[in-house]
Amino acid sequence: MQMLLPPIGFGLDELDDQQVAELIPAAWHAGFRAFDTAQLYGNEAALGRAIKTLQVPREEIFVTTKVMNRHFTEDRFLASVEESLERLDLEQVDLLLVHWPGHTMPIERQIELLNEACSRGLARHIGVSNYNSEQLARAVALSEAPIATNQVEIHPYLDQTVLRRRAHELGVPLTGFFVMAMGEAARDEALADIGRRHGKSAAQVALRWVHQLGDVPLTRSTRAERIPGNIDIFDFELSDEEMQTIQALARPGSRIVSPDNLAPEWD
Ligand SMILES: NC(=O)c1ccc[n+]([C@@H]2O[C@H](COP(=O)([O-])OP(=O)(O)OC[C@H]3O[C@@H](n4cnc5c(N)ncnc54)[C@H](OP(=O)(O)O)[C@@H]3O)[C@@H](O)[C@H]2O)c1
Repeated sequence: MQMLLPPIGFGLDELDDQQVAELIPAAWHAGFRAFDTAQLYGNEAALGRAIKTLQVPREEIFVTTKVMNRHFTEDRFLASVEESLERLDLEQVDLLLVHWPGHTMPIERQIELLNEACSRGLARHIGVSNYNSEQLARAVALSEAPIATNQVEIHPYLDQTVLRRRAHELGVPLTGFFVMAMGEAARDEALADIGRRHGKSAAQVALRWVHQLGDVPLTRSTRAERIPGNIDIFDFELSDEEMQTIQALARPGSRIVSPDNLAPEWD
C-alpha cells in the first residue's frame, strides 16, 4: 500500500478563525504536519494565515481540502478549487478530496475532475471521502493519479472491516475522522484499561489503534493542552489481543454521520 500522507492529521472542522489562529501553531509545535480543512468548514483563509505565521518551508506542511458537494457542477468544481487556493494563499494543496459521493455528479466525472485538478497543478495528490468500497474500486480503476486515501468515519464502535479490507486490497489507506466518536472513546473504560498498561490515555489508544490498522487518524481538539498527547502515539505498540479487544467494541447503529442526500449505501 502506497502511503502518500503523513501518518496523522489535525482536523479543522468547526474551528472558528480565532481557534485556528491559536491551535494551528500549537499543533505544529506538537509535531502535526498535516492539516485537514474543507470548503465547508469556512476556515481555509484562517488556515492560510496561520500557516504564514509559522514561517516554515511550504514543503513541511501538508494541507488537505475538500470540494463541497454544492460545487459538484461543471462550472463550479475546478473554479471552487481555485478559490480554495486563493483563500489558503497556496499555489497547490497537498491533497484534494471530494467531500461526499452525493448523487448529483457521477463518480466517474468526480474522478476526472480531481485528475484535472492534479494535472493543472492545483493539487499534489487526490482522494475521496465517504465512498463505499464499490465506489472506491471504480475510482481506483478510473483514476490516472493514485487515489491517496478514502477519508471515512472510523472509531472503535463502528465496524469498518469490509471497507478496510477492500481499500487495502486496492492499495488505498483509509483516513479516519470521528476517531473519538464525539468524545465517547476518550471516556471509554476498556480503552482506558488498555492505556494504563502502556502509560497512555484512552484517546491515545483509539488513535494508535487506527494507526496499527494501517490507516491515518485525524484528531481535533479545541484545548491546546490536549494536542501534544494526541500525537504522542508512535512510541508504543498494542498487542494483537488488545487490537481485538478494541475491535470487539463495535456495535450496530453506531455510525454518527450519514446525510441522506450525500451518503452512499454503506458497506
Ligand atoms: N470527511 C468528512 O466527511 C469529515 C467528517 C467529519 C470530520 N472530518 C475531519 O475529521 C476531523 C476530526 O473529526 P472531529 O473534528 O470530530 O474530531 P475527533 O478527534 O474525532 O473528536 C473531537 C472531539 O474529541 C475531543 N477530544 C479530542 N482529543 C481529546 C482528548 N485527548 N481527550 C478527550 N477528548 C478529546 C474534542 O474535545 P475538545 O475540543 O474539548 O478537546 C472534541 O469534542 C475533523 O476536524 C475534520 O477535519 C471529516
